Amino acid sequence: MTEENAANSNKKIAIITGGSRGLGRNAVLSLAKRGVRSIFTYHQNQAEADKVVALATEAGAPAIALQLDVAKASTFADFAQRVSAALGKMGTTRFDYLVNNAGTSSSATVASGSEAELDEQFAVHFKGPFLLTQALLSLINDGGRIINISSGLARVTMPGRAIYGPMKAAVEALTRQMAQELGPRRIAVNMVAPGAIATDFSGGIVRDNPEVNKMVASHTAFGRVGQPDDVGPVIAALLSDDFGWVNAQRIEVSGGMQI
Ligand SMILES: NC(=O)c1ccc[n+]([C@@H]2O[C@H](COP(=O)([O-])OP(=O)(O)OC[C@H]3O[C@@H](n4cnc5c(N)ncnc54)[C@H](OP(=O)(O)O)[C@@H]3O)[C@@H](O)[C@H]2O)c1
Repeated sequence: MTEENAANSNKKIAIITGGSRGLGRNAVLSLAKRGVRSIFTYHQNQAEADKVVALATEAGAPAIALQLDVAKASTFADFAQRVSAALGKMGTTRFDYLVNNAGTSSSATVASGSEAELDEQFAVHFKGPFLLTQALLSLINDGGRIINISSGLARVTMPGRAIYGPMKAAVEALTRQMAQELGPRRIAVNMVAPGAIATDFSGGIVRDNPEVNKMVASHTAFGRVGQPDDVGPVIAALLSDDFGWVNAQRIEVSGGMQI
């Protein structure tokens, strides 16, 4: 990165949901390496969030962690106020990038999925990003960016992903709607769709279950499952000035899963 880009990056601020672990954590730290400061959220794991704050600060881009449950839309107005206060601490009133990343898994099939699980997954994966983005719209700078985290499972099927996959497919349609509506403000809205990545997600099944790990690797052109380091830097790069003309696109980051 040139000195000029580094200086520009230093002025940028990202909001990332679910930054305490996994892909969100990696995105916070990848952005920090580029000089972008983050206000990120955690749900229950404040200890992990504190570690991410320390690592981002060490990398030269002090971060702020805020608690948020993305399934509780009634708290979003208050969250927007807490974001404003955090921005004030950073010496500004607006931010540049929003990454709707926080998520939880579901292993429901069409036969087994309950109404409660449908409602919970809808709240976390669709209603949350929709209403959180709405609540933060007035705080995003014109010319800013939004990335919604989708999944390879919006494109392909896997047993037990009957609710989760379709929720991510809905997020992809929402992303295009957002891009259309926010075009006049020059806010680009894209989606990153990771393949199966070795994180805590879904009880750490991709990382810790040898059979699942092997099965995913065998269906992936690059012959292995993904790691957080395969995804976070892509998010950071997509938010850079070089990708300013990319809008309403789905970038799958899966090493070529089930192609
Ligand atoms: N890993 C994969 O294989 C994979 C593949 C495709 C897509 N994705 C998507 O990538 C995103 C991140 O997944 P990951 O693998 O990084 O998961 P992860 O390691 O389980 O981390 C989940 C993160 O989201 C936060 N979170 C969970 N529930 C929340 C809620 N209700 N409200 C607010 N924050 C919440 C967690 O906070 P706490 O630390 O406080 O619990 C944590 O920071 C998700 O949207 C997921 O669907 C993952």
